[in-house]
Amino acid sequence: MAEHPRVRTYAARRRVSPLTRERLAILGPLWSLPPGPLRPAAAFGRQVPLVVDIGCGHGEAAIAYAVSHPTHDVVAVDTHTPGIARLLAAAEASGAAGSPAAGEAPGALGRSAVASMVASTMASTAVSTAASTAGARPARAATGAGPAASGVPNLRIELADAMAFLEERVGAATLDAAHLFFPDPWPKARHAKRRLVSGRLLELLTSRLKPGGHLLLATDHTGYAAYAIAQVRAHGALVPVRAGRPCWRPCGGFEARALASSREVIEIRAERP
Ligand SMILES: C[S@@+](CC[C@H](N)C(=O)[O-])C[C@H]1O[C@@H](n2cnc3c(N)ncnc32)[C@H](O)[C@@H]1O
Repeated sequence: MAEHPRVRTYAARRRVSPLTRERLAILGPLWSLPPGPLRPAAAFGRQVPLVVDIGCGHGEAAIAYAVSHPTHDVVAVDTHTPGIARLLAAAEASGAAGSPAAGEAPGALGRSAVASMVASTMASTAVSTAASTAGARPARAATGAGPAASGVPNLRIELADAMAFLEERVGAATLDAAHLFFPDPWPKARHAKRRLVSGRLLELLTSRLKPGGHLLLATDHTGYAAYAIAQVRAHGALVPVRAGRPCWRPCGGFEARALASSREVIEIRAERP
């Protein structure tokens, strides 16, 4: 692989609340991938289309994708510990939030049922997060039953730099899709090198996506959209097109704020031929 500069694409954050620490300690081991190279069959107990959500934040889109695509597996990756902790709590709570019972096909849920399940799990975790941040005694995280007892048995979580994860643990032609929703825009020119869409990411995706696999990118930053398309075209291995909004994705914080401010959300799909 060509040499690409390694730069930090995320903001450094230090403070970790007791609730975050507790969620990570109890739930992290249950929901994380086994260490070492990613072997989908060992991680999920089956071999089906595999999707990585890069910079998943607190995981609303990853959970919604997992619920609405029960025959796919999803790995949600972020470096942001409070976001991953909230995602863990929501994933753990998903079994009790109107999601399909064990044995029932999650795909039987309609779009509005997926949306309300995701909204209710995310809302319940937001309440305990807010209480903890306000200094209240943190609610105890679920003791942890793990994916098998949840509404998202097809989801795993990695608290990691997605670039390092792709480079060091994901083999060639492993992924069917990568999702990159509302990446940090790093709008100042001197910070553009920190954008996730870069030669390094594109090189990694070109190798890690299967032929016919694709990257889905959404951004409300028109400058970032133009930059991303230019980067993909300059790299040359993936073919970018403007795409429609995926109907399974909840209208989460970044998208809702963009629409409330009349900013367009631009959806790009870049396919590996
Ligand atoms: C603006 S947030 C968007 C979160 C989420 N995708 C959403 O739509 O709500 C961008 C996220 O990307 C994460 N991020 C940035 N660089 C990353 C990297 N190299 N590896 C993993 N996560 C990264 C940040 O920590 C942050 O949570």
